[in-house]
Amino acid sequence: MKKRIGLLTSGGDCQALNATMRGVVKGLSSVEDLEVYGFEDGYKGLIYGKYRMLTSRDFSGILTQGGTIIGTSRQPFKLMRVPDEKGLDKVAAMKQTYYKLCLDCLVILGGNGTQKTANLLREEGLNIIHLPKTIDNDIFGTDMTFGFNSALAIATNAIDQIHTTAASHGRVFIVEVMGHKVGSLTLYAGLAGGADIILIPEIPYDIKKVCSAIKGRTKAGKRFTILAVAEGAISKEDAKLSKKDFKKKVEQYKYPSVSYEIAEKIQEITGCEVRITVPGHTQRGGEPCPYDRVLSTRLGAGAAEAIMDEDYGNMIAIVNNKIKRVPLAECAGKLKTVSPKDQTIKAAKQIGISFGD
Ligand code: F6P
Repeated sequence: MKKRIGLLTSGGDCQALNATMRGVVKGLSSVEDLEVYGFEDGYKGLIYGKYRMLTSRDFSGILTQGGTIIGTSRQPFKLMRVPDEKGLDKVAAMKQTYYKLCLDCLVILGGNGTQKTANLLREEGLNIIHLPKTIDNDIFGTDMTFGFNSALAIATNAIDQIHTTAASHGRVFIVEVMGHKVGSLTLYAGLAGGADIILIPEIPYDIKKVCSAIKGRTKAGKRFTILAVAEGAISKEDAKLSKKDFKKKVEQYKYPSVSYEIAEKIQEITGCEVRITVPGHTQRGGEPCPYDRVLSTRLGAGAAEAIMDEDYGNMIAIVNNKIKRVPLAECAGKLKTVSPKDQTIKAAKQIGISFGD
């Protein structure tokens, strides 16, 4: 059997991108004549024909290596149909590269935006397989994305580290967790790190309720309070704003991020000393955790199987711990958010964690 496959990693990086590509290529080891083309910096490489041939040696020793050996970049989906500064039709250019290399299929590792472009290329007639990458775990159609559990370990560790210093000083601490518009990572890190208050975009907060939770703790003799705040956390008032008014507010925003606004208000209302920690991109860095190495290997092998079956146009997902092919037509463009009725939220509330609602 002869196969020519393309690989690209697009959007924000995360742990286990390399582990997943390794899973795909090692999973194709029974293919006698395998050619693998790695496109540099995501869709950019496909658009501008920047690629290199990869051999099995490139995929050895990368199971534990963070980042991506072929590079990544953000190429917004909404600009894919817009010609570049030199008037180049990006979609036509991507198709041209694909056909020039006579690819049997293109394996695309990425998050939501990347998936939308993958679906566009499928609609344009290319053989596509998508693999769900992101620390946000916000891809519809898969229970888990690779990167999430590795980032969770880092965000949890940040909260763990804050505990001792918070206790010594008797301060209020905010740990801001990534996740874009979704609160999964914050919810899990908050629970795992024993945060007292968790603020996520799916449950708009009332600052007065947040402050009364802090005051309640002080009254109960607790010296400190730790908040896990999602970078996309939103107040009840802001959640009521129209898209246009909210955009305006964001444009005039004087704070570096939402945590600074929350901190200022907490300080004003409670008089407590507040400190902020933003682990930021450390959450996407370093080596993948063991869970992600296993998940990536399974997803990669699942992609290899789909290639051998010549079954394209799917995301390789994990559902109820089974590898599944989910048609891109069914999942692209949909966001998986945290339901406020989720059992995990219920359990958190039951043990006394406040969501500021
Ligand atoms: O989607 C992954 C993510 O890390 C989000 O959690 C975050 O909002 C965003 O990417 C940050 O993007 P960038 O690396 O482009 O600043």
